[in-house]
Amino acid sequence: MVPLLDLKAQYEQLRQPINEALLRVAASQACILGPEVEQLERDLAEYLNVRHAIGVSSGTDALLIAFMALGIGAGDEVIVPTFSFFATAGCVSRLGALPVFVDVDPKSFNISPQAVRDAITSRTKAIVPVHLFGQAAEMNALMEIQNETGIPIVEDAAQAIGTQTSDGARVGTIGVIGCFSFYPTKNLGAMGDGGLVTTNDDLLAEKMMRLRNHGMEPRYYHSLVGGNFRLDAIQAAVLRVKLPHLPSWHQARRRNADAYNNLFAQHGLSTDVSGTFDSDNSVLIPTVVTDRSVADYHIFNQYTIQTRSRDALRTHLHKKGIGTEIYYPVPFHRQECFAALKTSQAHFPVADSLSSTVLSLPIYPELALHQIEEVVATVAEFERTPRPAF
Ligand SMILES: Cc1ncc(COP(=O)(O)O)c(C=O)c1O
Repeated sequence: MVPLLDLKAQYEQLRQPINEALLRVAASQACILGPEVEQLERDLAEYLNVRHAIGVSSGTDALLIAFMALGIGAGDEVIVPTFSFFATAGCVSRLGALPVFVDVDPKSFNISPQAVRDAITSRTKAIVPVHLFGQAAEMNALMEIQNETGIPIVEDAAQAIGTQTSDGARVGTIGVIGCFSFYPTKNLGAMGDGGLVTTNDDLLAEKMMRLRNHGMEPRYYHSLVGGNFRLDAIQAAVLRVKLPHLPSWHQARRRNADAYNNLFAQHGLSTDVSGTFDSDNSVLIPTVVTDRSVADYHIFNQYTIQTRSRDALRTHLHKKGIGTEIYYPVPFHRQECFAALKTSQAHFPVADSLSSTVLSLPIYPELALHQIEEVVATVAEFERTPRPAF
């Protein structure tokens, strides 16, 4: 039995300080925003090295607030990768703007800067790189685009808290606004929903602070139409306990990724990381696409392999008690809710290929080496079984 994620294992390690934090909030009855959230915001601003870190209700709401703060609405276009979690595009549509889908890079799975350039029009109001699975998008090339065109970059760093670019900066602090999620499966997960927006721009920070609380300042005076996007004190208190452990959890995830890479190679299953299949390699392991050795370039929120017999492999692993997930089986341009955009026939070959080949394996920090060995041995067992030609 190897579950995809074991949140109880992490809780067991931190049971006492987490319980104390929960009781502290219960005793204070300061349940929403307040001192716990303010302290978390200071701690996260310091960790990320950014001027403003503003706690919000979820990663989805972080994206929504970011777009609202930039005044995005009807008639505007926002460029997003077609291969990501739904919220990246959904928040654009919810504001009446048009998500413009572009393809991703076959090695990093992140937005292709050239595809972004090709998609820019006079209506483009934002570009949204997603640091998918915890790996930094190509921020240097993307920042060149922002600097040349003036189009703001909103980083979807939901899966990438602590990820560093090749220059060592933390993602989410490089573009105009960064958006993070504390959904429990993230490297820094709350005990419920939570999120964060970050910026170095004082005016945007002030606007986002107001937007998260109905655009209200002072009380019952509303200069903007905002919403209830506030972070709970319970979530903040739990996150404050977990934040100091984040670097060691990143390290453990990286160690697990290295173990997978070595074991796949030992089993002769993965011969290269070129991002394309050839006759020799039946499993493509994740590629860390950086020319510099920056430890946190990829924080492995997910360890995602590619295989052409993905669905059958997944069924085999499931039968053997090994948890996996497909992030993501349908790219945005083929989602039913976007049918009116008439993008289902668009040519996004990388995203289309990834959606039928990706499979995420267990990678959580508490995973034991023998469990990783079990996963790889089970993949190897499947790959050795003769199947009809692909
Ligand atoms: C890339 C990406 N963007 C946005 C979100 C939305 O975050 P949340 O689930 O906290 O609303 C997620 C989280 O699932 C995500 O993975």
